[in-house]
Amino acid sequence: MEKVKVGIIGAGSISEMHFESYKNNPAVEIYAVCDLNEQRAQEKAGKYGARRIYKNYQDLLADPAIDAVSICTWNNTHAAIAIAALQADKHVLVEKPLCKTVKEAHEIEQAVEACNGKTLQVGFVRRFGTNTQVLKKFIDAGDLGEIYYAKASCIRALGNPGGWFADKERSGGGPLIDLGVHVIDLCWYLMGKPKVKSISGNTYNKLGNRSNIKNKSFYQAADYDPEENTVEDLANALIRFENGASLMVDVSFTLHAKEETINVNLYGDQGGAEVEPELQIITEKNDTILNATPQIDALSFDFNKGFQKEIDHFISCVQGKRETISPVQDGVEIMKILAGVYESSASDAEVRFD
Ligand SMILES: NC(=O)c1ccc[n+]([C@@H]2O[C@H](COP(=O)([O-])OP(=O)(O)OC[C@H]3O[C@@H](n4cnc5c(N)ncnc54)[C@H](O)[C@@H]3O)[C@@H](O)[C@H]2O)c1
Repeated sequence: MEKVKVGIIGAGSISEMHFESYKNNPAVEIYAVCDLNEQRAQEKAGKYGARRIYKNYQDLLADPAIDAVSICTWNNTHAAIAIAALQADKHVLVEKPLCKTVKEAHEIEQAVEACNGKTLQVGFVRRFGTNTQVLKKFIDAGDLGEIYYAKASCIRALGNPGGWFADKERSGGGPLIDLGVHVIDLCWYLMGKPKVKSISGNTYNKLGNRSNIKNKSFYQAADYDPEENTVEDLANALIRFENGASLMVDVSFTLHAKEETINVNLYGDQGGAEVEPELQIITEKNDTILNATPQIDALSFDFNKGFQKEIDHFISCVQGKRETISPVQDGVEIMKILAGVYESSASDAEVRFD
């Protein structure tokens, strides 16, 4: 069977996870790389044996040999590249967030509907974590009952990645659109994708990017700029759903917090669960409360395994073996939530989705 020829657009930090995972998939040939920064594209092409190097994504998309693309560029380019790729008859794996605005999300959705049955998968990689997938089985079997409350928190004490991440024009926002997208999606997916009813949110720009801090390392964009920062450093929100469930979230790039923390908790009428920092299932049996710890290799999200499963799933969708579990419609719903938090904060009022 012929290999799936893949092109990777954007050869910065996260592309490495895509390259590695494609390399490990025997059904894939890493065929082309594209980056505005030609040297970066060349380095990846050399390391992963890609035949073609492009500076302009339109040229990559014009190559009829390419079956599928990963989009690993700045958020403000996701919509244009995804739409052009679908129109060029390519399957698309687009990094999170799907794009910057709800309008763009709908435009991508329309392009998916108009295309010839190509897959567009949104990079909600945490759906592919073993801890998530194990818990999903328990939820689907009814072990948590009706999930009516969830709580998601992803706090960085020092972690504004700078560069385009800190430029609202290119990123669409700060920790909410970058980190919140993961933990909000994780809860929403495990809650059974309830329809959002209202959002009350707050964002704060109090601390800046704190590039003055010494002796503490953190994730940085490929082109780090210590000066640039137009994004919030903290966001929080209360999200209500039509089925009566609610989700509380807080996320930061920087905060006077003691340490970095990630917590994702779900509460149902039959049981509860902690997904992060370690999978635990909480239940009641014979008048006793039980904290159950599954015997699995990793109780927390394993980055390498999560990306490998995400890419393997994408490739099996490209091969027509299954439908993606992370479709464009979900990207649109999550975009509505993210935009709703920003809108609520800007207008100092609850946003309703009637
Ligand atoms: N899934 C995850 O856990 C995860 C983690 C980090 C980043 N991301 C997402 O991945 C994307 C990239 O993030 P990153 O950390 O790799 O950023 P990065 O700055 O390290 O790399 C981005 C690269 O894209 C290139 N680029 C930008 N616009 C381009 C265009 N129009 N054509 C070709 N190349 C272009 C830049 O030159 C740069 O090399 C973002 O959407 C981000 O949200 C996802």
